[in-house]
Formats: sequence, structure tokens, C-alpha cells
Amino acid sequence: RRSKQQRALQIYALARDFYRALLSRDVGAKAVEYLAGRNLSETVRETFQLGYAPEGWDNLTKFLTAKGISVDELVKLGLAQSKAPGRCYDRFRNRIIFPIWDPQGRVVGFGGRTMGDDLPKYLNSPEGEYFNKGQLLYGLHLARRGIREQGYAVLMEGYVDVVSTYQHGVTNAVASLGTAFTREQGKLLMNYTHQVVIAYDSDSAGVKAAVRAAEILQELGGQVRIATIPEGKDPDEFIQKYGQPGWADVIKNAVSLIQFKLLQAVKQYGLREKKKILLEVLPNLAAVASPLELEEAIQQTATVLQVNWETVLAEVKKFKRNSR
Ligand code: UTP
Ligand code: MN
Ligand code: MN
Ligand code: MN
Ligand code: MN
Repeated sequence: RRSKQQRALQIYALARDFYRALLSRDVGAKAVEYLAGRNLSETVRETFQLGYAPEGWDNLTKFLTAKGISVDELVKLGLAQSKAPGRCYDRFRNRIIFPIWDPQGRVVGFGGRTMGDDLPKYLNSPEGEYFNKGQLLYGLHLARRGIREQGYAVLMEGYVDVVSTYQHGVTNAVASLGTAFTREQGKLLMNYTHQVVIAYDSDSAGVKAAVRAAEILQELGGQVRIATIPEGKDPDEFIQKYGQPGWADVIKNAVSLIQFKLLQAVKQYGLREKKKILLEVLPNLAAVASPLELEEAIQQTATVLQVNWETVLAEVKKFKRNSR
């Protein structure tokens, strides 16, 4: 059992090395050009072990089978897809490769980004024995130290966000591999810190997912704030434009879940719809356990709604009575 796992990890490492090596060969020139076009330095390319899966149907398959690895194993590990017994083709072709690691830094899968407009934009390893998207956080093993030193983690959506912000000195970021943050990912992160700033893309999917992730993390005992990336950008686009000083402001301006929901509701309904806005946050207010935090949250709500705090408190009490 143990040696089976060791073998799997060895095969993933071989695949990673294969993809990586191609970045410095002629076939990888356009991948290097793509990464350079996105302003990703050679240093972060190496830190994050980025690679290139070449065009053609069986480059990786040939490379690995020549090392004594069977087609069956390649298919089971999600590196190849089967077309007939004993025959297969590479899963990743003509894509930039982002190795994905477990918390110990062992490669357990890959994300492959197209360099063009074809879909999917990212093709990931299939869910399997070693790769479970919902249980991994991209970049965690590299961020562990930054999280410890800075006392908090930043949660982002994407591979490129983590790599690009790392290049600008943000060494405490991990990505949820998309917007669907899970309880398992929450528990994993809580092993390293309870302080989390969520920095998802500032599109409507990102806003919704940020609220959901914040609720999960709070349920697990996390102290969460939500950042808003200005100008509808994602962390990568933002930090490329405004650098580390801009990023520091984004973190500084991150707000509580309740404040975030209030601001979103004001945007959505307009300030006149006080009742609707209040309804969005009443369940959150009712769930605040600490009296000190509740007072602060009630103050915030009253300020945003431009009403007396006594009114908000009365509404919270009424909500609690009715939901009993
Ligand atoms: P985004 O869709 O926000 O990426 O996906 P993007 O910012 O537009 O494009 P790049 O990365 O800057 O080029 C964020 C994350 O969601 C997951 C990936 O983990 C990605 O990094 N995702 C996205 C997928 O798994 N598959 C997809 O097709 C798209
Ligand atoms: Mn997005
Ligand atoms: Mn997108
Ligand atoms: Mn992006
Ligand atoms: Mn994005």
C-alpha cells in the first residue's frame, strides 16, 4: 500500500520534471513567451515548478513508458486517457503546466492552462486517489512560512494569482483552485492559521464565493476578513498594476463578513431599501457569539443603514425570537 503510494508520487514527480524541462527546450519557446507575456519571472517559474505539456498525443506517455511505467498506471494517475486496452494518449497537450502539491510539497496532480482561447481554460487532473480538488490548497507548502511569519493567510481563486502575487512579495497566499471552497479546505487551512483574508476575484461569482468561504471558515472558528480588489480585477491583475503598496492597502481595507454583505446589499438594492439590506445580515448578526463583536457589528450595521444602533439591536432580538 505504502509502496504503491510512493510509486505514484514518483511518477507525478517524473511527469513534473518532464514538463519543466521542456520550458528550456525549443518546443517550449512559445510557453516561455506566454509566461513572459504575463510578466511571470524565471524565478517564480522555478519556485512554482511551472512546465509545458507539448503538442502531440503521446510525448509524456512515451517518456514514462520508456521508464517502465505501464499505460494502465498512467491512466489510473490521470496523466493519460485510454483509447483501447494498452493504448492511451496524454491528457495534457499544448498547455502551461502548474504542478499541484499536497501540504508536504509532493506533486499530486496538475492544472493545465491553454495559451489560447480554447476551452476549458484550465484542464486539471481528474479526481482520483491522490488528487482531490476539494481537499487541496494550491501553494500551501510554499505559503506555510509566510503564513507563520505574517500571522495570516490570504485565500485566492487561481494559480496565477498565487504565483504572480508571490513574485511581488506576497508569500502567504493559497488558492482554492476555483471558487468552490470546501469545508475540508477550511479545516486544512485552520491547521496553519485561524486568520484569513479572502481575496477572490471581484466579479459576481467571486463575491458570492467569498461570502460562502467566509461562512465556512467562521463556522470552523476562523477570523475572517474579505478584501475587495478594485477595478473588477483579480489579485494578479491588481498587483501587476499597483504592486506591493497597492496590495497592502487591499489587505488593510478588508472588512468583516457582515460589513462586506452590507456593502454588497447597498450596491444591489440602494440605501433606501433598509429592510432588504438588514435582512441580508440579520442571520449573521444573530450568530455572533461574542458580545463585544456583536456591539461592533451592530454599530457597523447602524452606520451603513443610517439608523440608531438601538433599532438594529431590536431587530436582532426580534429575529432571534422568531427563529427559535
Ligand atoms: P479564473 O477563471 O479566475 O482564471 O480561474 P483567470 O484569472 O480568468 O485566468 P488566469 O488564471 O489569470 O489565466 C481561477 C481558478 O479557477 C480554476 C483554476 O484553479 C484557476 O486558477 N479553474 C478556472 C479551473 O479549474 N478550470 C477552469 O476552466 C477555470
Ligand atoms: Mn474568476
Ligand atoms: Mn475568469
Ligand atoms: Mn487572472
Ligand atoms: Mn481570475
